Amino acid sequence: MKFTDLHVAIAGGGSTYTPGIVQAMLHNSDRFPVSKITLYDIDEERNEDMKLIVKYMLENDGYDNVELNATLDPEEAFTGCDFVFSQIRVGGMEMREKDEKIPLSHGLVGQETCGVGGFSYGLRSIKGLLGVVGYVQEYSPDAWILNYTNPETLIAEAIRRQFPNAHMLNACDMTISIEETMARNFGYDRKNWIAQYYGLNHFGWYTSIYDKSLQRDVMPELIEKLRKAPMKIASFNKGDQSWQDAWNKLSKILDYFPDYLPNNYLEYYFFPDIVVEETDSNHTRANMVMDGRLKNTKEMATKIRNKAEGEVLDFDFGEHGQYIVDMATSILNDSHERFMLIQPNMGAIPNLRQDAVVEIPTYVGRLGAEPISMRHPINDFHKGLMEAQNAAEKLLVDGYFEGSYQKVLEAFTLNQTVPSADKAKEVLDDLIIANKGYWPELH
Ligand code: NAD
Ligand code: G6P
Ligand code: MN
Repeated sequence: MKFTDLHVAIAGGGSTYTPGIVQAMLHNSDRFPVSKITLYDIDEERNEDMKLIVKYMLENDGYDNVELNATLDPEEAFTGCDFVFSQIRVGGMEMREKDEKIPLSHGLVGQETCGVGGFSYGLRSIKGLLGVVGYVQEYSPDAWILNYTNPETLIAEAIRRQFPNAHMLNACDMTISIEETMARNFGYDRKNWIAQYYGLNHFGWYTSIYDKSLQRDVMPELIEKLRKAPMKIASFNKGDQSWQDAWNKLSKILDYFPDYLPNNYLEYYFFPDIVVEETDSNHTRANMVMDGRLKNTKEMATKIRNKAEGEVLDFDFGEHGQYIVDMATSILNDSHERFMLIQPNMGAIPNLRQDAVVEIPTYVGRLGAEPISMRHPINDFHKGLMEAQNAAEKLLVDGYFEGSYQKVLEAFTLNQTVPSADKAKEVLDDLIIANKGYWPELH
């Protein structure tokens, strides 16, 4: 690993999140001296569109010294790289649409990362990410892989089984988005916050949020405010009604369980019936993203290609890119900043099994993740929910590696959005057909 002239490869280079990550790298070039960016993808059209957009950004912002490549060749992408930012979506939005619509057709939650839709995505995604991590181990084994690819817990569990020595951090932007949105809604500065949080990915709770400037735990007052009125979507989710619905549900969870501030994704486990009822099974989130972000990105590339006049980049990139660049910078400079990371428990939550993959606050430095021990047990309500979910996730990953239909069926049955073994089997059998060629063969 080098400390100057950094070479960063982005796996899933064609992702609509790439401009935000590049923008964050460029704006932090004093702390994070990037000199080469390689976009790696399996879809040439999307990768080339993104190359055009990133080239436009580099030229417009005066970063002529940064070399830019786009390639479908893993050897070219990963040889000599210092950091790999990973954000692939195996099967694309077309398969996400199936993960959402097939469970809905059985009256079950259909969601990207939660419920059986998330499990369906997991069985595709693990294979893709094992591929990426394998390439990095082969071509640049010292590089740091910072992973956003979902579903995060399943990915983290599978990677540590196959590549226990990989230099890899798994992160989710949800806690930072919740914090930033609360701060903007209620007039705080989240830079002053020290958040205590535990859970599995998209399945956790804040236990306190200490504000260094106000010198108090602000979580109780945030809960009060959220119970009075849900927060409004921030500018980086502008006009996006489904995020507004998620914030509304977060407040609803607090009506039932007001002691801890939940991750909004718990709505799928607490209110599956309402979520199913409110979801338009003909037009799910995948359709919204295809008609929104994906279309906008395509249009942006077309405008640049046609040298159209006027503002071409019109995204508010939010916290997502900054968060991953902050992590990379913390490794590089050994600065031990604090991040919420997804990693083996190993005693951090003392009364939860050691080998559960959990999401907890962690210092990040040159040696990677240095998890912070909670030093106190968690309550039975959260523990029970997490243990069932964790066992289901472990069974699913077992099922992936063993090619075991039985284990996957058990995982589906144990998933807390599924009411019966009959339903689990029905939806599993449909998803096997839909995922042919993506999932391992199950026997
Ligand atoms: P997207 O479909 O728009 O982009 C993904 C890109 O990955 C596409 O260009 C696709 O061609 C490429 N790809 C697919 N399989 C690949 C493979 N095997 N190797 C290389 N490239 C491959 O998806 P998106 O909405 O931009 O999301 C990308 C990923 O990031 C998803 O997994 C999503 O769930 C995840 N994500 C995670 C977080 C988080 O909090 N962890 C936040 C946002 C997005
Ligand atoms: C948040 C979550 C991600 C998830 C994304 C979905 O950022 O933390 O894990 O992938 O939302 O957003 P989308 O706009 O694709 O529905
Ligand atoms: Mn996430």
